[in-house]
Amino acid sequence: MRGKRIFLFSKIAAAGALLLLALSSLAPASEREKTDRAAAPADPIAANGARMLAEGRHTFRDDTFGDQVFWSRILGIHEALKQVSPRTALAVGLKVDAEALPPGLLAQLKSGGPATVASHGKAVDLDDPAVTAALLRLNAVVGVRGFFNQDGTLRSAGITCALCHSTVDDSVAPGIGKRLDGWANRDLNVGAIVNLAPNLQPVASLLGVDEPTVRTVLKSWGPGRFDAELFLDGKAFRPDGKTAATLIPPAFGLAGVDGHTFTGWGSVTYWNAFVANLEMHGQGRFWDPRLNDPVKFPIAARNGFGDIQSEHDLITPKLAALQFYQLAIPAPAPPPGSFNAAAAARGKVVFSEAGCAKCHVPPLYTEPGWNRHTPEEIGIDSFQADRSPDGHYRTTPLKGLWAHSKGGYYHDGRFATLRDVVNHYDGHFDLRLSEQKKRDLIEFLKSL
Ligand code: HEC
Ligand code: HEC
Repeated sequence: MRGKRIFLFSKIAAAGALLLLALSSLAPASEREKTDRAAAPADPIAANGARMLAEGRHTFRDDTFGDQVFWSRILGIHEALKQVSPRTALAVGLKVDAEALPPGLLAQLKSGGPATVASHGKAVDLDDPAVTAALLRLNAVVGVRGFFNQDGTLRSAGITCALCHSTVDDSVAPGIGKRLDGWANRDLNVGAIVNLAPNLQPVASLLGVDEPTVRTVLKSWGPGRFDAELFLDGKAFRPDGKTAATLIPPAFGLAGVDGHTFTGWGSVTYWNAFVANLEMHGQGRFWDPRLNDPVKFPIAARNGFGDIQSEHDLITPKLAALQFYQLAIPAPAPPPGSFNAAAAARGKVVFSEAGCAKCHVPPLYTEPGWNRHTPEEIGIDSFQADRSPDGHYRTTPLKGLWAHSKGGYYHDGRFATLRDVVNHYDGHFDLRLSEQKKRDLIEFLKSL
């Protein structure tokens, strides 16, 4: 009996449970569908693209990859930053992101400009280092991140990609405006900034020289330049005695381009990993056995740069979106009126006739395919090419050329003007271009 009742009870219970199950799987089914639909958008590829753009932009602008350990804990650069006024910061080419500033301060900066501007009733002194700290706290100094103690004092500082590859549109004041991601900061004096660090002995030890030598080298760079190969080969000067530092290139208009850097070290993502680990000194993983060559890269080989393995990898997980974002940055169009359109149209024909388009193939303006050339092919010395694994120069994609004219042309700025570039090719390729054709060609280059 008892057993039967139990059986019956359990049967009812089971039926009820089934019913419940049926009902519950009915109601949540539609719920589930809704959430499924939200999780799987109509166009998952577009959604992924948007996510990667946002992530990549954040990494490009704001991520130090933990490099503050190197810049602050080892070199002590934050101690120097505490003494730097906004005026000095602007003078060494650092830029201020106007969109990160509170409206009050922004308005004052717009109307002001002189030594002292008022904000919130208080005077804001551009000669006061405390204002620099305030700007860092607002994340308004492009490419420099401050990390603060609870009492508000600067604990450490690190750098991001935006330091060298961004500038601002100067819409508020010189050096203060909207961010222009991907533009080369040709005002930035990287050497002078690094030289502020109180302790450069770790760099000196790495290079196998004394500290004063490191400081002399840093002072030799000048604005708009950085030497990405110094930490590999220790070559600070060219045979002619000039600095071995190259210009900072733009990081826009790179989609569709095969080899990157002036000497074609690799793809965008190759170079991003290289820079984040070996130049910014972030914490990550990097692999390139080409750096084990003790003749070409004595410093890299000695220090094992071809196989970097930090305890925490803060770089690799960000590489995909960072590459995606960079490839999405278009080259900026030249401002209206900055070139003569009729002359540029004629110059386009000259560009083709003179053989420029054989290497600078429109619309990429570099070769589709393997875009490297020997120094002899373009008629220059091999110093910088020899500092790279393949000994070549990469055909520069020319779109947006107008936006990085400061500092000159070619990897080391050896040609001060486009006329100098055209004259170089005219001689090297024995083109015998007429004065008119040269002028038209220059207008075309300005129109790209
Ligand atoms: C201290 C300045 C500096 C910082 C910071 C910096 N770069 Fe660069 N970048 C350079 C210089 C200089 C070169 C040229 C190197 C060469 O050709 O040897 C370069 C080259 C490049 C290129 C190749 C451009 C081309 O025309 O092919 C890319 C892409 C790039 N950097 C992306 C980045 C990214 C992403 C970061 C952050 C992870 C970064 N850079 C951080 C100075 C910098
Ligand atoms: C054989 C291939 C080749 C040909 C032909 C060629 N170039 Fe170049 N071009 C290059 C390479 C490689 C570089 C990079 C040189 C460097 O950075 O040192 C370059 C660089 C440049 C630059 C400098 C870009 C910058 O950002 O600094 C300009 C401008 C330029 N070329 C224009 C021309 C014009 C105009 C012609 C035709 C008269 C031409 N090129 C023909 C391969 C070529």
